[in-house]
Amino acid sequence: MDINDLKNISIIGAGNMGHQLTLVCALSGYNTVCTDINGEILKKAEMFADNYLKDRVRKGKLSEEDAEDVRKRISFVSELKEAVSKADYVIEAAIENLELKRKLFADMDRSAPAHAVFATNSSRIVSSRIADATSRPGKVCNLHFFNPALVMKLVEVVKAPHCDENTVNVSFKLCEKLGEIPVLLNYEIDGFILNRVLGALAKEALWLYEKGIASFEDIDKACLYGAGHPMGPFRLMDLTGIDLEYFMKSEAFKNSGDRADLPSPGVVERYIKGDYGEKTGRGWYEHTVKVK
Ligand code: 3HC
Repeated sequence: MDINDLKNISIIGAGNMGHQLTLVCALSGYNTVCTDINGEILKKAEMFADNYLKDRVRKGKLSEEDAEDVRKRISFVSELKEAVSKADYVIEAAIENLELKRKLFADMDRSAPAHAVFATNSSRIVSSRIADATSRPGKVCNLHFFNPALVMKLVEVVKAPHCDENTVNVSFKLCEKLGEIPVLLNYEIDGFILNRVLGALAKEALWLYEKGIASFEDIDKACLYGAGHPMGPFRLMDLTGIDLEYFMKSEAFKNSGDRADLPSPGVVERYIKGDYGEKTGRGWYEHTVKVK
């Protein structure tokens, strides 16, 4: 596929990442369809899009006319089949569950045009664990965006042994068209680049906290005021989701069998209580749940 033939993008999953990726694509001129199995989450994503665009107009960052055009390019649909029927490029942003992703990719494969590229935005599952669920492994790759997707510019494009050269090239160029900064990973690796780096920081921060050496608030403060990070690792976990941290660590433990990879007790405790961070109103910190 030539990048200039890419017009229609489908986003699978309207949660943490999907609702913002939908806007990222539509703002860059792509017809964008967003779908989610959960009607309530889909409705919230639609409300978010409306509020976000209104806010951009209010802040003088977008004209009213442009905002209307962006909104017209987005549709929210409940059926996966309909969502991918015209897709040139699909970005899957569902929860971190391998079996679910494999099922989604198999279903997408049956309903999407044969030329469509399928990317997973998974935080750590490499595409070679998913590609063989489709009849188009050469067109399956990882495209890893960062939260909040409307603000963070980085995208990790991961080359896998099964990927066609064209899939990698189109994916890289798509990121540039979306105004993002793509980086290329020449080989698949668990956690890619940035989640490995941030994971190392979070692991140390959690250790300091669990040993009672400092409060999580003070560890966050140290990162903010001593290292100039925009937010500390605990506050960041509330943004990306304690449920995601729990899933990522559980998956890492499943793969390695190394107990050092298990989610830390503070994460498990909050996960069991359903305190996932910003999205539930409480995680490490208290948050007012709001549509930004
Ligand atoms: N959604 C959309 N837009 C947001 C936003 C959100 N959640 N939070 C902030 N913004 C926008 C604001 O609208 C504002 O836009 P404008 O300047 O164009 O009007 C701009 O960002 C700045 O907003 P604020 O002044 O309110 O916020 P801050 O300056 O405090 O920045 C932040 C907020 C961008 C979230 C900053 O704290 C930050 O960069 N944090 C680190 C985020 C990070 O590290 N992300 C990567 C996580 S790892 C990951 O995602 C991988 C995954 O696999 C787990």
